[in-house]
Amino acid sequence: MSPSLSGKVAIVTGSSRSIGAAIAKRLASFGANVVINYVSNASAAQAVADDINKQGAGKAIIVKADVGSLAENKHLVEETLRQFGRIDIVVLNAGIMENKKLQDVTEADFDKHYNTNVRGPLFLVQTVVPHLKAGSRVIFFSTSLTRASIVPPDYLLYASTKGAVEQFSRILAKDLGASGITVNTVSPGPIDTDLFRQGKTEQQINFFKGLHPQKRLGTAEEVSNVVSFLVSEEASWVNGQTILINGVGPWGFAWRTQLTDLFSGIRRMMGSQSRGAHDLL
Ligand SMILES: NC(=O)c1ccc[n+]([C@@H]2O[C@H](COP(=O)([O-])OP(=O)(O)OC[C@H]3O[C@@H](n4cnc5c(N)ncnc54)[C@H](OP(=O)(O)O)[C@@H]3O)[C@@H](O)[C@H]2O)c1
Repeated sequence: MSPSLSGKVAIVTGSSRSIGAAIAKRLASFGANVVINYVSNASAAQAVADDINKQGAGKAIIVKADVGSLAENKHLVEETLRQFGRIDIVVLNAGIMENKKLQDVTEADFDKHYNTNVRGPLFLVQTVVPHLKAGSRVIFFSTSLTRASIVPPDYLLYASTKGAVEQFSRILAKDLGASGITVNTVSPGPIDTDLFRQGKTEQQINFFKGLHPQKRLGTAEEVSNVVSFLVSEEASWVNGQTILINGVGPWGFAWRTQLTDLFSGIRRMMGSQSRGAHDLL
């Protein structure tokens, strides 16, 4: 049975493309009115909103806002309230990943990652919470990398921002739980999106596919399926959880054979300087 989200209003940050777009479309298909948020890609946001409005279930509006800016987060909330009159669901999906090793990381890289992935979600929740009633839902976005036994060194900044978000979620689940609001985190594993593909060769992408039992990447729709459950009434007793959506593989647990594959793949990707698998575990 499909959950009904009729009458609910959802803000989905970063919903012009990829995972956010799939979530916005799915929530709208269950009747929610959705806010399509983007930072630079107006035509993609318009295409998502047009698609939703053509389906005739929930309505979509578009609000441009850089989630890393407190002022723009405020604008996002005010515009949502002005046009839809309420907020029930906040999906903190917008995120960036620009990988660099320790010696190459700049202050600007640090600020950009922490503004978008950490500061933005926290202050957006702070701004939204006074408008949320019992039964509302907050969904944070992490990554399965926070649980992986091996993470390449250039994921340093990105993985650390997601670690911070998981702690927000864990603590806020109790704080906001007292008001009947659930707070959960989803942690996707490799999902075939622009963020995942950027900076990788086809060979590297095939390497990631090969690590999974089904020899493929996940899809944005597979993430949206889990999010639509978590925001539904049926998930009322699911709170403070981090749900891994990664089709298993080394992001979920370490099989010995996969570890061997992973280690040789990482060595191929990074040259001969990788340490032994046992050093990395
Ligand atoms: N793909 C994966 O394998 C994977 C794995 C684990 C976790 N995740 C997490 O899942 C989430 C979505 O990832 P994705 O792969 O769908 O990313 P994506 O393909 O890069 O899409 C990012 C979306 O976020 C928007 N965005 C970026 N910076 C923003 C900002 N400052 N303010 C507002 N919107 C902003 C983009 O808008 P524009 O179109 O305007 O640029 C776009 O709609 C992220 O939090 C990511 O960390 C992804």
